[in-house]
Amino acid sequence: MEKIIVLDFGSQYNQLIVRKIRELGVYSELLRYDTAYDILNSDDVKGIVLSGGPKSVFARDAYHINSNIYDLDKPILGICYGMHLMVKDLGGVVQITDKKEYGRQLIEVLDDKNLFKHTPTAQNVWMSHSDRLEQKPDDFRILATSNHVIAAIKHKKKPLYGVQFHPEVLHTEYGSTILKNFLNDCQVTFDWHMDQLSQMLINDIKDKVKDNSVLMAISGGVDSSVAAVLIHQAIGNQLRCFFIDHGLLRKNEVSEVMERFAKDYHINVECVDAKADFYHRLSGITDPEQKRKIIGKAFIDTFEKTAKKYGDYAFLGQGTLYTDRIESGTNTAHTIKSHHNVGGLPKHMPFKLIEPLNMLFKDEVRQLGITLGINQSFVNRQPFPGPGLAIRIMGEITADKVRIVQETDAILREIIDAQDFHQDIWQYFTVLTNTKTVGIKGDERSYEYLLVIRAVTSTDGMTADWAKIPYDMLEMASTRMVNEVSGINRVAYDITSKPPGTIEWE
Ligand code: XMP
Repeated sequence: MEKIIVLDFGSQYNQLIVRKIRELGVYSELLRYDTAYDILNSDDVKGIVLSGGPKSVFARDAYHINSNIYDLDKPILGICYGMHLMVKDLGGVVQITDKKEYGRQLIEVLDDKNLFKHTPTAQNVWMSHSDRLEQKPDDFRILATSNHVIAAIKHKKKPLYGVQFHPEVLHTEYGSTILKNFLNDCQVTFDWHMDQLSQMLINDIKDKVKDNSVLMAISGGVDSSVAAVLIHQAIGNQLRCFFIDHGLLRKNEVSEVMERFAKDYHINVECVDAKADFYHRLSGITDPEQKRKIIGKAFIDTFEKTAKKYGDYAFLGQGTLYTDRIESGTNTAHTIKSHHNVGGLPKHMPFKLIEPLNMLFKDEVRQLGITLGINQSFVNRQPFPGPGLAIRIMGEITADKVRIVQETDAILREIIDAQDFHQDIWQYFTVLTNTKTVGIKGDERSYEYLLVIRAVTSTDGMTADWAKIPYDMLEMASTRMVNEVSGINRVAYDITSKPPGTIEWE
């Protein structure tokens, strides 16, 4: 399958380059900067992007590449660090500066063919660099400048390009066109799409698993469900799934997951009831970090015990996404946020991993799920954290507090979903505080918990704004919650954005 390889020099935008190229209809993968020459030279590879990176090409620990790749006769686009490397390798001069240049810059295009075809002479681009190109190599010509600094170059004879700015970010006005122009030079057919991908992934799984079996712990969430359905389509009943009910799931979630797998996907799932064990381990624990650790450990122990019962399984299926790998830090990228999923399993497991989604972004997984016949409303559902309701209950976790959160969360979802308001909100849920307040219920004084509604808008969960839910919906939620759920007598609405708040309360 034709593809564009992006070599990873550590920029936080690298995943976006891959993403943009895929959006343009061409399969792309991010590989380590020191990927073997033979791989890059394979016929499938139609072009190479040298990514940006946080280092200077002059740093003692700078990343280098085999400079023979410049003679491969495949188009190569160097972005920022990638361009500096190309220039340094091919005889130009890169100037080290301490001065960082971030943000929007106007460039002037001197050559409106090549990379800048169908774009205007003056255009805004996004810069993020300190070193810069002082002198191009002799064999190159300048395609664009910004304030007399070289912004883009091209080799006079070979398909080698360099840009100082980041075409992959939204703020570069004509970034997609620039990447598309590069892809045109790579002579790709722009025919990559989801159906093709699902067949390719199914074939890969078949080739890898052969007549062995795959064991999988599903979480009920989108990623593990899509992965399970995909693996099932590849190997049928050679897949065995189990679902750990840790007692911290939403109301009716266990029965809904079991039913969905049985009826919609025709996959047999064993439900492992671990509620008592999780509650026991969590009893008396109030510190948020300790709660997370206990849940993580209890999950691993339950997993190991259950897996042992299944005996010899060659493979373990997981719904790991591309972003999970990136957020956990690659060898080159700086860690963005440490991946805090309860599904993290110990390294000494006697399985080989099958992670069919590990090249995909979340929205690609959603599209894949729909292609595989999974219900659209399920694949688009709001994210739910691995530690579940535990991080929405302040202080000690008890079965009764779980009940309060489950019931109030169900009421909130019912109200918001009925008004079709959910499409505009990233996550909406309730949080049980550890504070009791005085109120009146009937004619009597009550002294019960304060409950909080949390609802945010976001595009990626990294930053968020509080959702402007209409007052009448909040009023309906508050009235129903206090009347229908015992143990609370007051409801507040969290109007904090992230930052400074986080989406979850713990
Ligand atoms: P915060 O609270 O950090 O949440 O603003 C950002 C997003 O991550 C989810 N989240 C988690 N997901 N395991 C998960 O799988 C976790 O430990 C965890 N903590 C937070 C949260 O629901 C939101 O979507």
